[in-house]
Amino acid sequence: MNKIVLASGNKGKLKEFSELMADYGVEILAQSALNVAEVPETGTTFVENAIIKARNAAEVTGHAAIADDSGLEVDFLQGAPGIYSARYAGEGAKDEQNYTKLLNALDGQTQRSARFQCVLVYMRHAKDPTPIICQASWEGTIGFAPQGDNGHGYDPIFIPAEHECPAAELSSDEKNKLSHRGKALVLLIEAMKQQGIFN
Ligand code: IMP
Repeated sequence: MNKIVLASGNKGKLKEFSELMADYGVEILAQSALNVAEVPETGTTFVENAIIKARNAAEVTGHAAIADDSGLEVDFLQGAPGIYSARYAGEGAKDEQNYTKLLNALDGQTQRSARFQCVLVYMRHAKDPTPIICQASWEGTIGFAPQGDNGHGYDPIFIPAEHECPAAELSSDEKNKLSHRGKALVLLIEAMKQQGIFN
């Protein structure tokens, strides 16, 4: 079986990638199970950070690697919190602290358009000069108060263009069909098929 290491410590992502890739005879390995330490995300773009993470996982394990980097772009804030979404309210901030800071930054604003971005990178090996890079986004607006218990991160305040309710009120199936990560995953699998990575 083809083995690919996932450069993420997130259990939800591990499950999602494992289920999708199993259909193609690929076993997804968690980088934490292979003693890969998390690498500092020193890039200034989603693409750079995803490449940094994939390269690190490939280098340490000797396997091909997949990494993702994602975040929320708010137009009124010139794209912030962007690549800093997870640490918008400070290093180690909780989801609630991050989205509360964002709601405060938009206090009194009517321009509330925003989108989630996701970049997925596949590297055949650590020195791969042409990684596969796929990107997708999910358009919406920022609500005025948190609502809903599903999902994670900014889901309680992100109202997708396709719905009247926040992403935190969608089922995971509904979210996966529309979301930045769900769409980027479809693109990545398509690109990997085209390049003959699955046998
Ligand atoms: P990462 O891709 O796990 O590094 O995610 C970066 C940050 O972006 C997360 O910690 C969340 O704050 C935010 N984020 C990314 N995707 C989503 C999503 O689907 N819903 C809510 N927040 C998200």
